[in-house]
Formats: sequence, structure tokens, C-alpha cells
Amino acid sequence: METETGRLRVAAIGDLHVKEDEGGAYKELFGEISRSADVLVLCGDLTDLGKPKEAELLADDLRACAIPIVGVLGNHDYECGNVEEVSAILKGAGVRLLEGQSVEIDGVGFVGVKGFSGGFGRRMLGAFGEPAIKQFVAEAMNEAMRLENAMRGVKSKRAVVVLHYAPIVETLEGEPLEIMPFLGSSRLAETIDRFKVSAVVHGHAHRGRYEGRTPGGQPVYNVARQIEKPTGKPYALIEV
Ligand SMILES: [Fe+2]
Ligand SMILES: [Fe+2]
Repeated sequence: METETGRLRVAAIGDLHVKEDEGGAYKELFGEISRSADVLVLCGDLTDLGKPKEAELLADDLRACAIPIVGVLGNHDYECGNVEEVSAILKGAGVRLLEGQSVEIDGVGFVGVKGFSGGFGRRMLGAFGEPAIKQFVAEAMNEAMRLENAMRGVKSKRAVVVLHYAPIVETLEGEPLEIMPFLGSSRLAETIDRFKVSAVVHGHAHRGRYEGRTPGGQPVYNVARQIEKPTGKPYALIEV
């Protein structure tokens, strides 16, 4: 289903951080989103500690969602080492989890990876020195490469990039300066700017700000639940 203008209404939210004692917290919201959007995008940190019980509670709530759901996981979803089980539970509830893949919905390609830290621009962490640093940087580069491979596979003219970590610093404004390099990596933006996209959505930065642009001028939205958005709701509504 599309709007009269032929555009697709995308509702996007990240950082739900569903806890074990929070059953039903999002049922109403997902019902409301189903009435106001055509696709729901989830930007990671869907559970608080990556516990299967938390994923089951979210899965129950997601059954109230009547529109297609795509998403990526966040760092919190990895915390307990149960990422496979958490993924399976969410997939069972209809979430098309993107881990370096893309999916096409009504003519729009959704392409996603979690992303990783590493910092921004000229101050980005480089692969120099101890093996542990090189491993850390390699993880950031791997995520950017997975994104690039996935983006090459998108056939649609319109594409939405779904991330957990931030690709730019602009949507992190408001976060303490000291933690900015841990909140994302501009390797993601460099990759995105090799392609033309309609929108980039991310989460992870609960205290950042809603809107920014890649160095190539493509729109980026921080849709973490905690961020104030033009809708006045916990989710963003973007037409692509
Ligand atoms: Fe988060
Ligand atoms: Fe996060």
C-alpha cells in the first residue's frame, strides 16, 4: 500500500530495550503504527540484555503489527550471548532481520546492518598498533563492507538504509563528546555515499538529535525511541 503520491510511509523506531518485566509495553504503539504507516523499521537494541525472554515479550507485542516489519539488531541484543535465539524469536514474529541483506517492499529496497563504533572523519580510529585495536577497526570495516555488498544487491530506485550505530556525528549532538567515537563510524556514511538512497535511519544514541545529512547530502534520521521527533511520537514517520 502506498500514499496517493506513490510514496511509502515508513515508521521507524530503535532502542525499545524491552525488559523481562515489560510485557505488552508496545502493543498499542504497534497497533497505532499499523494504521499510520506501510512498513515498520526497527533500528536495534530491541531487547535490553539480549535475553530470549525479552525477545518473546517483544514478539508478542509485534503480533499487533499488521504491516511488514524489517529491522536490525543492536549491541544490547548481543549482551547475553543468545543472539541466534533472539533472532529466531523475532523472525518468528515476522521481523525480516537484516544482517547484511536487503529486502524489497512495495518498490523500496530496505538494506541493513548493525554497524559498529570507531569514530568519525579524520579522527576515526585507525588500524595501528596492538592486535586488539586492529581487531576493533576490522570489525568496523567488516560492517561497512557487509553494507556495501548488500547495497549492491538493491534493485529498486528507492532505498532505505537501516542501521543501529550512527553513520554521522550530526545526529549524535547532545551526547557527551567523550563517547562519540563509540556511537558510530563514518565508514558507514562513506559506503552509503557511494550509492543514492532515500533515507538512512539509525538508533543507539539516546541523547542525540533527530536529523542530519551524510557528507554527500543524504538524509539521516536518529530514530532512537528517546529522541524527540516531528511526529511528537516515539517513532519517526518518513515518506520515501
Ligand atoms: Fe540503545
Ligand atoms: Fe545501542
